[in-house]
Amino acid sequence: MAYVITQNCCKDASCVPVCPVECIRPVGDAGSFTGTEMLYIEPDVCIDCGACQEECPVGAIYPEDELPPEQERFREINARYFEANPLKPDDSHHGSPHTAVKAGSLRVAIVGAGPAGCYAADELIRIKGVEVALYERLPVPYGLVRYGVAPDHQHTKAITSLFGEALSNSRLHCYFNVTVGDGISHDELMAHHHAVIYSVGAAKSRELGIPGETLPGHYAAADFVGWYNGHPDHAGDRFDLTGERAVIIGNGNVSLDIARILVSPRAALAATDIAEHALEALGDSNIREVVVLARRGARHAAFSIGEFMALGSLPGVDVIIEADDLEAGPDDDIETVIKLELAREYANRQPTPGNKRIVFRFLAAPEEIIGDGRVSGIRVAGGDVIETSLILRSTGYLGSAIADLPFDEAAGTVPNDRGRVLDDAGQPIPGVYVTGWIKRGPRGVIGTNRSCAEQTVARLWEDFDAGALASDAGEREALDGLLAQRGLTPVGWREWTAIDEAERARGAESERPRVKFVNVADMLAEIPS
Ligand code: F3S
Ligand code: F3S
Repeated sequence: MAYVITQNCCKDASCVPVCPVECIRPVGDAGSFTGTEMLYIEPDVCIDCGACQEECPVGAIYPEDELPPEQERFREINARYFEANPLKPDDSHHGSPHTAVKAGSLRVAIVGAGPAGCYAADELIRIKGVEVALYERLPVPYGLVRYGVAPDHQHTKAITSLFGEALSNSRLHCYFNVTVGDGISHDELMAHHHAVIYSVGAAKSRELGIPGETLPGHYAAADFVGWYNGHPDHAGDRFDLTGERAVIIGNGNVSLDIARILVSPRAALAATDIAEHALEALGDSNIREVVVLARRGARHAAFSIGEFMALGSLPGVDVIIEADDLEAGPDDDIETVIKLELAREYANRQPTPGNKRIVFRFLAAPEEIIGDGRVSGIRVAGGDVIETSLILRSTGYLGSAIADLPFDEAAGTVPNDRGRVLDDAGQPIPGVYVTGWIKRGPRGVIGTNRSCAEQTVARLWEDFDAGALASDAGEREALDGLLAQRGLTPVGWREWTAIDEAERARGAESERPRVKFVNVADMLAEIPS
């Protein structure tokens, strides 16, 4: 028997160091990108100890004889990964050079409580003596885990229990509901901490640069995702779901999330923590077909195997593949080979009359959004026009400039060397770091941020050891006083817990994981005075 990693894997990699026989791959040095969508277990080497399963925060690992039916295929996928990539010794070693520092000698502010910031906080707070202040614009933490991960992927959201352990540490102070750059400046943060790490993500959507893209009916996928996930910035958005067809531009996992949500029956959505307004609107939706457009061919598909495979077992939904070139070539990696196999399987299935459809169109770059006053269709490469009243573009994100920090407009990132922020002359700015999408661009899955944070925090430790950080930093109490003077009321861990419990209680009434508050005032109203 062996253990098997399955669809839910988000590359958190907590499983890797606990494996006594080092049979989980690929692994890389901190901050390196291993390129694969997930990690795999070498079945011939695994000794069934179960340690990895206990460690995985999202429940992605199963003993092979307990695999849920829809995950069965991952037994073969794990094995095939190692046929193509035989196991080699792991010589990557992560971790801080310290186990403890003198109390008060390292106080770090982290700006942004999404997965990147939470992994950085987790990495730092495990060292005794370190203090962390975690800043977040909203009164609630977890960023894209709460507002980006699809509501029907609750297992992925389970990563918050790992983050919660770090965030509830008595040496970690949450300053949610405080906007750095507005309520408090970068210089003020620097004056009260030895180091500041920005983990603010990349929230802007790339534009298409084609005619018609300002027509109503065409939106950024990120807005739609924020809307169905109850993000306060998008709670008031409206999307026209009266047509029978929606078109999604781009074929990454976000596109597949949206496609799935659009064709899911109300009852399935009602079991999730989808926002109430979205549940109502999607329950009344007329959409029966979602067309997913890709600029390139099927072998370059951006979605992952697990998400693509899961579409095939959605009840009442056919997956239609519109592409001819589905054969793998000798240069294709094993993940591409498996994706093409799946695509061929879908292409050979007979559609079921009356089913909804998710249609994958490849080599179909968008050329023009068509409509008179609002979207009525989209013209794609080859001249075809697809009629639709709803177009969502999911073609990548861009970071926004951070006040008082250098910024690379073209890349949408803060210039940095493995996390150290660089000035215009390319020199590190002492004590200022970045991690997550604002550091490396919008790539990777949730767990990719762990390795990214390890890399940044390793630089911070190097600078700490080299005496490159400010030796004196104002006291936390002084900063608290400044915030109070400005009428800012930070939401701390305990206050967030009250909001969390209230949401869960609302959910329990209707057997849902939670019912989110979708505006800030309602969140704050749950905090006991
Ligand atoms: Fe490992 Fe993936 Fe879980 S890397 S810890 S199986 S999320
Ligand atoms: Fe196998 Fe996981 Fe143990 S891979 S050896 S069961 S840590």
